[in-house]
Amino acid sequence: MCGIVGYIGKRKAYPILMEGLSALEYRGYDSAGIAIVDRARFAVHKVKGKVDALKEQTKGKRLNGTIGVAHTRWATHGAPSQANAHPHKDASGRIALVHNGIIENYTTLKQKLVNDGVTFRSETDTEVLAQLIGKYYTNGDLAKAVRRALAEVEGTFGIAVLAQDNPTVLVGARKGSPLVVGIGDDEYILASDTSAIVRHTNQVIYLKDNNLVVLSADGYSTTTLDNRHVSCEVQTLEYGAEALAKDAYDHFMLKEIMEQPETIRNAMRGRLLVDDGAARLDGLNLVLNELRRIDRLILVACGTSWHAALAGEYIIEDMAGIPVEVEYASEFRYRNPIIGPNTLVFVISQSGETADTLAALREAAHKGATVLGICNVVGSSIARETHGGVYLHAGPEIGVASTKAFTSQITVLSLLMILLGRMRRISSSDGVSFARALSRIPGQVEKILKQNDAVKKIARIYARHNNFLYLGRSYNFPVALEGALKLKEISYVHAEGYAAAEMKHGPIALIDRDMPSVVIAIRDSVYDKVITNMQEIRARGGKIIAVATEGDKSIARHADHVLYIPKTLPIFSPLLTVIPLQLLAYHIAALRGCEIDQPRNLAKSVTVE
Ligand code: G6P
Repeated sequence: MCGIVGYIGKRKAYPILMEGLSALEYRGYDSAGIAIVDRARFAVHKVKGKVDALKEQTKGKRLNGTIGVAHTRWATHGAPSQANAHPHKDASGRIALVHNGIIENYTTLKQKLVNDGVTFRSETDTEVLAQLIGKYYTNGDLAKAVRRALAEVEGTFGIAVLAQDNPTVLVGARKGSPLVVGIGDDEYILASDTSAIVRHTNQVIYLKDNNLVVLSADGYSTTTLDNRHVSCEVQTLEYGAEALAKDAYDHFMLKEIMEQPETIRNAMRGRLLVDDGAARLDGLNLVLNELRRIDRLILVACGTSWHAALAGEYIIEDMAGIPVEVEYASEFRYRNPIIGPNTLVFVISQSGETADTLAALREAAHKGATVLGICNVVGSSIARETHGGVYLHAGPEIGVASTKAFTSQITVLSLLMILLGRMRRISSSDGVSFARALSRIPGQVEKILKQNDAVKKIARIYARHNNFLYLGRSYNFPVALEGALKLKEISYVHAEGYAAAEMKHGPIALIDRDMPSVVIAIRDSVYDKVITNMQEIRARGGKIIAVATEGDKSIARHADHVLYIPKTLPIFSPLLTVIPLQLLAYHIAALRGCEIDQPRNLAKSVTVE
């Protein structure tokens, strides 16, 4: 949801800002812009379209300044256009601002400014903030003007602001939207996340909510928005610039699919105690006693993370015997949920910045719940605001369609099942068999990935079909939903995920030879029932791509194509069955010529409601 980056230092700002924008492009990509101060004058360039279009427009331009800001946008207020692209300037042209978030009271503020005689050049909420800062920028004190303006603003913001008549200061502030400061040698980079920073330094400060930072050649100072000093810890990034490279892959999505044996291993490392049949999650140590007491779990998330939560419900409820509810964060936050004294809430988010999930976290905390997090991005807002939690350690996920985060989330939820279950009804011998099965998953994923070419062949047959049905049951119902979501997101093909047996209550009416079904039919307790569903599809002329258990020869009688997964305990099968579905979506999207890593209208991290 918009990426912002700012630079102040001794080097030319332009290449650092452009490189930062490319790294942040996954956050939004409908327009981009840059403002650099050179000899006390702004040079501003904006384009409708992607960062590459901005690169093209600025090629060969003399952009020599050593301070600047840049932005890649995901439109909320005002259509994607050059006029609405950031940076926005105030009426006097002295202030330039980039913004991630939403100014909720912008109409009221705008009206007041219009009454004062200000003429607006864009339809954005952001320009209101630029104008307001310009109004208060009277004595060369930029930080003071920013503070005064922000005091009038309702909503969320991560901003970077500079003034052309004082190019020695860059001001950043945040509320609800993330902002990180990279600390280099005599230089600072301010950005929405560390991907825009890691090539230059591994020393960072995660700015806290309602904080403001002033960066200058002499150093930096952090305060609250109302100007009280706050100290911020300097942290070392846990990944290097190489994690942001696509390597030999055509797309980040494919790279991330292929990384899963390693990322699942990372999620378990040091946490899965195979010989003891147990799990340890150090991030939950502070609440271990509470974990013993709880009688209800609520898992809250959005998108793919919500599908992982649903898989978690099946796994934890069945094995650990704790009632689990799964909630869309966007629903949970507005529906007055009941939270008892022994209810524990987990929020699950790859980015740790999803606005609805963050709001749900706050709502649950407000009602007195202990709220724990399962996040990938270290230092993210959700990771910081929760009472404890577990990181995925999956490394940066750049492809907008989430893949490796999903399997890491299910891995962590499986560890949680073992942890909670061993405190309750799971015996030590069952614990050992769970732990053994889980430890074998990375190798089994490797084996499935070797079927990439077989998946591609199937994709070729169905790449031009415009409707798909995905069916799964029990542990694999969430995987059916996730498989359909992957296809929708990146290939713009209509796909519905359904609980297999529910098919007969509606979707069966759609089935014909042009609507293929992807059916997860592994050898588990519902295998025979799923086979019946497959027969029902074929009786109506529907084509079937089945995901089945290795060694199941008879399934070929009921399906047109079969992809196999190695045998595992059914509870852990989602970690395997989802892999062919990710590959299928990837290849169909590639064959349709879609922009896989940056699908239209989507953004990696949704920091607006
Ligand atoms: C967006 C992304 C999805 C993601 C969802 C939740 O919609 O495009 O891939 O699953 O947000 O994101 P989170 O970071 O909270 O897991």
